Amino acid sequence: MKTIKDFDLKGKKVILRSDFNVSIKDGKIISNERITAELPTINYLTDNGAKVIIMSHLGKIKSEEDKKKNSLYIVYEELLKLLKTKVIFSSATNGSILEEKVSSLKNGEVLLMENTRYEDLDGQKESKCDEDLSKYWASLGDIFINDAFGMTHRRHASNYGISKYLENGVGLLIEKEVNGLKPILNPEAPFTIVMSGAKLEDKLALIKSLAPKCSNLLLGGGIANTFLAVDHNIGASLASTDLINEAKEMLSIYKERIILPIDVKVDANGKLEIKNIDDINNTEVIYDIGPKTIQKYKEIISNSKTIFLNGTVGKYELAGFEEGTKETLAAISKASGYTVIGGGDALSSAEYFKITGFNFISTGGGATLNYIANKKMECFDEE
Ligand code: 3PG
Repeated sequence: MKTIKDFDLKGKKVILRSDFNVSIKDGKIISNERITAELPTINYLTDNGAKVIIMSHLGKIKSEEDKKKNSLYIVYEELLKLLKTKVIFSSATNGSILEEKVSSLKNGEVLLMENTRYEDLDGQKESKCDEDLSKYWASLGDIFINDAFGMTHRRHASNYGISKYLENGVGLLIEKEVNGLKPILNPEAPFTIVMSGAKLEDKLALIKSLAPKCSNLLLGGGIANTFLAVDHNIGASLASTDLINEAKEMLSIYKERIILPIDVKVDANGKLEIKNIDDINNTEVIYDIGPKTIQKYKEIISNSKTIFLNGTVGKYELAGFEEGTKETLAAISKASGYTVIGGGDALSSAEYFKITGFNFISTGGGATLNYIANKKMECFDEE
């Protein structure tokens, strides 16, 4: 794998694929970790006289409304504050306006192109790795540098597609991730993974490949709810109901390793209540793990030699449902094992609660889980 250091960059138009998929709340970026993590690569390119064309996605784009919510302009404003060099923005993702902006770049200058997924509105061209779009974007540059570690599990036009048509290599962030994740690739046991997320369908394949490799898989969020729904009433909580049988099968194989909440915090018609997992009523909604579960998860974490967390175990943005996420993060930050947190939501929650002290912070969520599971950075997954 070539790296950024293997190229003569002076005067070259370098397309840099970054992962600026940041969480935004009330018009503000919650954590700019994914942006600051990319600065060494951008600075290396500009210091060496490249003309840098940065591409990234932000969120998922399925409607015009999604476009308004997920413009990369907010990231452009952040780059303006963080970079010393001239930065311009192209609101076009194709066509003459974009091409003119690319041609106007001088050595050491940066152009940030609008969200690559704007191209998804018309036939999911970005996410389905459309050949014409890949070729077109590649035609804008001389060299392609992929540094979007958080995207390495996706086969999109702006990462996998472009790389087929240009001389290419990886950036400094991917190098850093590979080094920081080494202890997790060959983890010292007990190895504990804390995994949460809204939908089991997004993580099922990963759970299947990670369960045999770890000692404990602590679950939270909608994923945990789907597993709980195998033999409990989860009320009106979020779950992937069509995957309950899959969850049942996984539980029968990995009964000892898949650890589920034993109590939860629910919204009971507007009132916050702590409930044992057998006592949930039909109208109640689980938004966090309960105190007994927090205690259990903390003990497992402190007895582990390697720990990785992706996602947040509760809906911490809702008042009263912060504790599970906060306590789990705090336990990991204090653990004596090798600790890594990864993914947009995990990073944002650590920033929100101002919890630091992890051995490594990975910009990847699904990408990092995929890397741990397969020990290679392979984009297998189309959107
Ligand atoms: C991530 O946040 O995990 C990456 O940016 C990939 O985003 P996606 O899950 O929307 O493809």
